[in-house]
Amino acid sequence: MILVQMSDTHIDEPGTLVYGHFDTSQALERAVAAINAMEPGPDLILHTGDIASHGSVARYQAFKAITDELVAPMAVIPGNHDDRDALREVLGGSASLPATGEFLHFVIDDHAVRIICCDSVIAGETPGEMCAERLAWLDARLSEAPERPTIVALHHPPFYSGMTGSSAKGLARGGGELDALLRRHTQVVRVLAGHAHRPMTTAFGGTIAYAGPTTCYPFDLYTGPERLLNITHEPPAIAVHLWLEDATPAGADLVTHTIPIGDWAPPLTLLKAGVKVLAG
Ligand SMILES: [Fe+2]
Repeated sequence: MILVQMSDTHIDEPGTLVYGHFDTSQALERAVAAINAMEPGPDLILHTGDIASHGSVARYQAFKAITDELVAPMAVIPGNHDDRDALREVLGGSASLPATGEFLHFVIDDHAVRIICCDSVIAGETPGEMCAERLAWLDARLSEAPERPTIVALHHPPFYSGMTGSSAKGLARGGGELDALLRRHTQVVRVLAGHAHRPMTTAFGGTIAYAGPTTCYPFDLYTGPERLLNITHEPPAIAVHLWLEDATPAGADLVTHTIPIGDWAPPLTLLKAGVKVLAG
């Protein structure tokens, strides 16, 4: 199974530059082209939230127009910049989003790894939460299939990033409870998040937690006292999660690759069908 994670696309209305600088639509077009060029292609693309710069029907329609070009199916979960009602109106029929209920949480059960998509949004606020209702829903979903390897996805990283800007702490409430819950469900092979606009990995809930990169403007790694949140000019990226049935020594395992997006020279082939092409 090949799962592509894209995150924090921050699409604005066509012709608008986010913060006066960033053409996030063009950045998404590049990400879509990079994903479509994968050989073999992914089984699924998961967007871990902040689809739009500010949630609106027009912005989600712009997002849909670009991502309709994706060859593989895509699922989306909301981030703090998103609007649940507008998201449901534009993408509800095509992106696994539930038609009713307050929260946009759902399960993707069609692949070798089960994916439980959570809604960690507090409407109108930057940090997220996993409240008692959402934790109970997640607990019930995990209890349904304890033998199935499972990814738990949510927009807000449930761990402290070490950055001192606004992305330092993803979850305002429920992080400790989520950690304890996941420790009771040992089938969780990864927690996937977005929000931080740069890839991060740590231990959480008895498993591995990974925050994926953004397709548009990455945040700088700033750990100083001034609480700066700088946009850096590092390349945007996607993550590719490979479920490897034949991994050793522990059996099947999920391996995560972070892939920058940019205009690179073509690959230099060193080996082809087991034959060494270049020395060294
Ligand atoms: Fe974001």
